[in-house]
Amino acid sequence: MSNKKFNAIVTAVGMYVPDKILDNKYFEQIVETSDEWILTRTGIRERRILENGATSDLATLAAQDLIEKHNINKDEIDALIIATVTPDMFFPATATLVQYKLGLPNVWGFDLSAACSGFLFALQTGASLIESGRYKKVLVIGADKMSSIVDYTDRNTCILFGDAGSAFLLEPTEDYNLGLKNSILRIDGSGKDYLNMLGGGSLNPSTHETVDKRWHYIYQDGKAVFKVAVKGMADVSVEVMEMSGLKSEDVAYLVPHQANMRIIDATAERMGVSKDKVMINIDKYGNTTAATIPSCITEYYRAGKLKKGDNLILAAFGAGYTWGASHLVWAID
Ligand code: COA
Repeated sequence: MSNKKFNAIVTAVGMYVPDKILDNKYFEQIVETSDEWILTRTGIRERRILENGATSDLATLAAQDLIEKHNINKDEIDALIIATVTPDMFFPATATLVQYKLGLPNVWGFDLSAACSGFLFALQTGASLIESGRYKKVLVIGADKMSSIVDYTDRNTCILFGDAGSAFLLEPTEDYNLGLKNSILRIDGSGKDYLNMLGGGSLNPSTHETVDKRWHYIYQDGKAVFKVAVKGMADVSVEVMEMSGLKSEDVAYLVPHQANMRIIDATAERMGVSKDKVMINIDKYGNTTAATIPSCITEYYRAGKLKKGDNLILAAFGAGYTWGASHLVWAID
């Protein structure tokens, strides 16, 4: 028996992507690559880059979009969680900076670090605050300025990432058929060597040497991560469907983290979900880390492709390793 007082439903959505576009042709000029290689190996055509500002600006603009489009009273927001691996600074938390920029008078909050699974972890955390009955309006934001940690001389990684922010508002309902139903979330630190940023933390504080070794940029062993990402994402997606008693035909959309089109296709295939039921925006934005899942949902909702009661399976895999899948029932008419 569940001891939830409420279910958490998504009642408002918002997003922000910067105007500046880097297309695949741009990368042909700066590293040895081709539009054809990038498109066929990843599914990415272009990505957006924030020229001025930081992750707190991406998060603030996404939240402002949500607040304006859904007429939300800022005074009522009582918690704020920001999933990011590119905080403005180590401290204070980006959540505090966003609180200040948005002018939220009655909120507490924090940053959550789970790389590309960050939004799923933040969604479950925010939902738990709602389910307990103690909080009524929780803002959950995924935002990353990946361009601030991308090495634009490394063709293995520089083509993959973009900048974006996206926000969800969670509120309580006593209709247990709606909102966040089940999540399976996992971490495994044995993956630390395959996807990381070595420099700047307490293990390797910033020095001239860490800069010379390019340790303040993303490092990824793409092949190693690819294999575990396919298995990790597919396993938990299938498991969460079983947990919720869903067959593939009951799923309105798979909402996968947008890291690589081939990982997305393999996950959908394992779930038995056809391509037209998979949310995609990797072609336009690349991998925006914590912003991929909420920005996909925001765009599909705004295009009129979602209806109340739709079963969404959200799935992600990221550095750590971190991974997970969630069953979310759409609640906005
Ligand atoms: N342009 C042209 N060639 C490139 C390239 C680029 N931008 N990037 C890498 N290559 C080369 C490699 O150097 C390698 O050459 P080699 O065989 O001479 O050594 C070759 O292409 C194949 O590299 P490989 O790493 O096997 O490619 P891939 O098909 O695995 O694709 C990724 C690389 C990064 C796109 C892919 O591995 C991936 O998406 N990994 C997982 C990402 C992920 O899910 N991360 C977790 C969340 S962030």
